[in-house]
Amino acid sequence: MTATLSFTVIWVSPEPFGPALAHGVSYCGQMSVTSIAAPAGTELVDGIPAAARLHIVTGKGGTGKTTVAAALALALAAGGRKVLLIEVEGRQAIAQLFDVPALPYGEHRLATTARGGQLWGLAIDAEEAMIEYLEMFYNLKRSARGLKKMGAVDFVTTLAPGLRDVLLTGKVKEAVTRTNPDGHLAYDVVVLDAPPTGRIRRFLDATREVANLTKFGPISRQSAGVIALLHGPQTAVHLVTLLEEMPVQETIDAAEELGEAGFQLGAVIVNRARPALISGDLLDAGGTVDVKLLTAGLRKANVAVAHADALAHEMTEYAERQEIQAENAARLAAVATPRLELPDLNPPVELGELHELAAYFTVAPS
Ligand SMILES: Nc1ncnc2c1ncn2[C@@H]1O[C@H](COP(=O)(O)OP(=O)(O)O)[C@@H](O)[C@H]1O
Ligand SMILES: [Mg+2]
Repeated sequence: MTATLSFTVIWVSPEPFGPALAHGVSYCGQMSVTSIAAPAGTELVDGIPAAARLHIVTGKGGTGKTTVAAALALALAAGGRKVLLIEVEGRQAIAQLFDVPALPYGEHRLATTARGGQLWGLAIDAEEAMIEYLEMFYNLKRSARGLKKMGAVDFVTTLAPGLRDVLLTGKVKEAVTRTNPDGHLAYDVVVLDAPPTGRIRRFLDATREVANLTKFGPISRQSAGVIALLHGPQTAVHLVTLLEEMPVQETIDAAEELGEAGFQLGAVIVNRARPALISGDLLDAGGTVDVKLLTAGLRKANVAVAHADALAHEMTEYAERQEIQAENAARLAAVATPRLELPDLNPPVELGELHELAAYFTVAPS
């Protein structure tokens, strides 16, 4: 309790990160910048509110949060916006996806787009965020680094796990609300590759818990700003899922929990959806592909029948997965937010595939 309180001082100032970020941007020269053609449409699909300034992408681990967050960020940039894609899990997943060296702490340009849009990336690190603060407000340049070397910063954030989330969400808010000296917003929109559904509500509300402890003064005001942004209409929380039992259950649970906690849900994004290829009339009552029927069909089409057994087996398996997909898609009807389907591409997903996925977030002009 004491640790949490004493370190929430970090958010006393509304703009604690400006100078350090200017410093971070100087790394930009090291990164390769890719030019990306804009997708056909720039109007965003239902569930991706054009007015949102912060898109939070969550989902069960492994469902494609990072991939989807990056594709969404690309789609937003392709519409001509300046977009910041943020990760908070310390995995350097953005760098991997965009095939650039690990992002040193700071903001780095990842891509430019035809309409003058830009995509920037930031891997937030709670310890670095804390050091930035200590350096700036207490002039602790060397001692803050020393504290890190000694493991003290690590120790403090480990001691109070909620503090880490307070730091991370506070930094996200700073990026969303930052203005340039000319008064313009530094970024038009921020996309957050967020923690998984199991932790998302506590992550987003970490500051609220702190706010409950400090009712007055600057800490309270700073916390109120973070809470207001995350719960407000400028923020949309998107849930990524696969059409499998566990991710769908987590999506349903998270939608309920986040809705009750007052967050604005954006879209349920069904990732890696496979097309329904096997029609019911190819299957017998047990759901198995009829080899005789298949063999006859192959003969008719002048295709060698030697592999009919193996093919029937594969088709039966596909049909089973197809049915599971359909059942899970039906269960998702319990969530009343717009749904978006992204196709199952050949992994690994790289920049070309990201571009392909990005196109699903915009409406093709008719
Ligand atoms: N639409 C897709 N088609 C094919 N592979 C995908 C797709 N989306 C994600 N993947 C792959 O699935 C794996 C997990 O994706 P990732 O975005 O890292 O998930 P998470 O961030 O939720 O852990 C990665 O190998 C990624 O390339
Ligand atoms: Mg990830």
